[in-house]
Amino acid sequence: MKIKKFKSKSHLKYKLIKEKLDFKSLDKIISILKSENGSSILANLSNKNITKYLNIVIKQDNMSLFVVKNSDLIGYAIVTEKPEYLISNFKKLKIPFLIDLIIRLKILTLINIFLSIIKIDTLFINLRNKEIVKRSLNLNLLAVKKKYQGIGVGTKFLKFIIKKTKKNSKYISCETNDKKSKEFYEKKLNFQTIGWKIRVPIFINILLKRI
Ligand SMILES: CC(C)(COP(=O)(O)OP(=O)(O)OC[C@H]1O[C@@H](n2cnc3c(N)ncnc32)[C@H](O)[C@@H]1OP(=O)(O)O)[C@@H](O)C(=O)NCCC(=O)NCCS
Repeated sequence: MKIKKFKSKSHLKYKLIKEKLDFKSLDKIISILKSENGSSILANLSNKNITKYLNIVIKQDNMSLFVVKNSDLIGYAIVTEKPEYLISNFKKLKIPFLIDLIIRLKILTLINIFLSIIKIDTLFINLRNKEIVKRSLNLNLLAVKKKYQGIGVGTKFLKFIIKKTKKNSKYISCETNDKKSKEFYEKKLNFQTIGWKIRVPIFINILLKRI
């Protein structure tokens, strides 16, 4: 059931998380991650490893975890100053994460990691845009709890995130394989699709916005 606009948006709080989260909030984020960003690498890890990942995001200066709250936690986002930090910040966890995915038979996720390692996944992005994306602020993951979607929470949340994180970046980039969220980025936030990444089972759109 969709709640009414005036009720849901009037007392929302958008927050940058700087300190370790309590178990309840972590649980809420993991639940939104698994139901709304189910095809992401992170969602395919065990809860224990997702928690480790989120705690690293909170600690790092070059990454940020944001949440939206009313009485409940209803949305979250992970942003990194540059896409490369998504790999370099997690070097120590690379092997445990891979073992986790193998044990849990997350074959598609493992294939996609392989495509990314051998760098053929960015075949459909031109060189100039590849360079811009490399230097851009990267919205790694974003989701709003299902019953709060489509009432403007995501738009306000992302505008807040951009305001808080843009600093020296000229662009923000993100990826999605979902038609509705592509529409969200293009229609509500003026992102432009600049290419596609090869992924199984479907390609993902790469989007960019000047900030
Ligand atoms: C994409 C997402 C963050 C947008 O947040 P939101 O609060 O639903 O977005 P808003 O209400 O501010 O904007 C709504 C617009 O986004 C688009 N949209 C995307 N997903 C939608 C959804 N589930 N329901 C309604 N609109 C959606 C529509 O174009 C809509 O425009 P319209 O109302 O004119 O039709 C949210 O829908 C979501 O969490 N989706 C699942 C996870 C996801 O795809 N994340 C992005 C990739 S990492």
